[in-house]
Amino acid sequence: GTTLRAAAAEKGRYFGAAVATGKLSDNTYATVLNREFNSVVAENEMKWDATEPQQGRFSYGGGDRLVSHARANGMSVRGHALLWHQQQPSWAQGLSGSALRNAAINHVTQVATHFRGQIYAWDVVNEAFADGGSGGRRDSNLQRTGNDWIEAAFRAARAADPGAKLCYNDYNTDGINAKSTGIYNMVRDFKSRGVPIDCVGFQSHLGTTIPGDYQANLQRFADLGVEVQITELDVMTGGNQANIYAAVTRACLAVSRCTGITVWGVRDCDSWRGSDNALLFDCSGNKKAAYNAVLDALNAG
Ligand code: G3I
Repeated sequence: GTTLRAAAAEKGRYFGAAVATGKLSDNTYATVLNREFNSVVAENEMKWDATEPQQGRFSYGGGDRLVSHARANGMSVRGHALLWHQQQPSWAQGLSGSALRNAAINHVTQVATHFRGQIYAWDVVNEAFADGGSGGRRDSNLQRTGNDWIEAAFRAARAADPGAKLCYNDYNTDGINAKSTGIYNMVRDFKSRGVPIDCVGFQSHLGTTIPGDYQANLQRFADLGVEVQITELDVMTGGNQANIYAAVTRACLAVSRCTGITVWGVRDCDSWRGSDNALLFDCSGNKKAAYNAVLDALNAG
């Protein structure tokens, strides 16, 4: 393949990018996006603060625009994210206990119902585990409603959109460590008890190194019977950037249940990481060495 989307498709994978719909009218941006990617995710516009700015008043404009752009350009859509401790509307930040639990589950039901049939995979819950060595949950208003909030969210999402794959998504899970093992144990428990979970997202916001057990970590989750996806890939600039991008690509291709890779933006200037220049295209839309490394890795073998 001569584009990321074609080369990934030849390997039975998708290659996606996070999109800000406001940039779709930028010609350089849209040209690169439509040529290279066959999956999109909203960088912000499907989050709780965007989709339910006031309790019970839903706002789907940005998400709907992205879905229709995807349909017109042969792209699938990842939904991000139904529940997260960040980017909650202020009304939700003011709730606790059963009022918050009920509001959260209603949010999952309403949003997943609105987009039913249009979403390949939903990040049902994002970043619920703590950093560091505990392997436990992160403290948050959602966690304080009871440890079963995650499984309640997955059950509500399944009921609302039975066709969407339901993912748990997190960062600092790029190797075998206490945090990824805590998530692994949760997924194993969910599978054993029939809680509906189909996939695990590995954000992969990487610095100048990649853990040596990156592929082994993906594989151990895949062996639980869930799909794995690289969901927010970006890599700090520097001598290793192209090599790290290639290593992530090869790891996904080596794990049969790794179904796709999403980079967290199109051009360096679109990235939340600013001067890290962490993406595959420069600010003018030119392909970087990292782009060529990914394309070569997709085409190898
Ligand atoms: O939309 C408002 C705008 O009205 C206001 O004038 C402006 C002033 O600050 O802020 C705008 O909102 C910003 C929003 O991005 C849209 O640009 C928020 O301040 C800013 O915090 C928000 O940042 C996003 C961040 O999530 C929020 O936590 C980033 O764009 C987005 O890339 C980032 O994405 C997250 C993933 O969802 C989860 N994993 C980590 C990843 C990186 O942090």
